[in-house]
Amino acid sequence: MSKKIEIPNHSYYRLINTGPVILGTFRSGEKQNITTFAWTTPLSKDPPLLGIALAPERYSYELIKESNVFCVNVPNSSILSKVFEAGNISGRDYDKFKLLELDFTEAEKVNCPLLTDCIGNIECEVQQIVHVGDHYFFIGEVKRAIVSEEIWENNHLNLKKENGQTVHHLGDQYFTIPNQITEAKFFSREKK
Ligand SMILES: Cc1cc2nc3c(=O)[nH]c(=O)nc-3n(C[C@H](O)[C@H](O)[C@H](O)COP(=O)(O)O)c2cc1C
Repeated sequence: MSKKIEIPNHSYYRLINTGPVILGTFRSGEKQNITTFAWTTPLSKDPPLLGIALAPERYSYELIKESNVFCVNVPNSSILSKVFEAGNISGRDYDKFKLLELDFTEAEKVNCPLLTDCIGNIECEVQQIVHVGDHYFFIGEVKRAIVSEEIWENNHLNLKKENGQTVHHLGDQYFTIPNQITEAKFFSREKK
């Protein structure tokens, strides 16, 4: 192993930030918005729960607090520049749907827009809000999940398919796109 260097404590997340970047969609009354998230995680299978970390200064925070619902939209690399821009401007100043030309359809289980140009969409109802440092962690119960048929194989995403590449944030304007699938070997061991 090569020599290790110290990095600032606040950069810790750049070592473990590997989930796909997602576009959160929100609606409250007439107001709706799209925001980019790197800090998201699955939390439970039964009930199905996931979490997104949202800073209170975001316009989306205002909407989710009013409506208690949100949708997670999984983009592929073809719309990376839109994903990046959605994470650098506020819905207070722009209609991101119009500006970024992102079409939406209606979610079925919650009152919220779903982005049609994304490969997967997850409809969520807020179950719990936890204040963590400079963010609020919104835990959502999954009410419905859909995925593009052509990239879903053997019950997982096939990232090697055209349009199957999710984007993962490394920091600042840098992203990575996984396009390899490796199979781990099964092994059996005697318990002590
Ligand atoms: C790649 C990327 C990832 C981001 N991840 C998060 C995140 O996990 N949580 C968060 O609150 N903001 C995150 N942001 C910042 C928001 O997307 C950004 O502040 C956005 O402009 C807020 O928009 P809004 O005011 O319309 O809600 C991220 C931005 C980028 C570019």
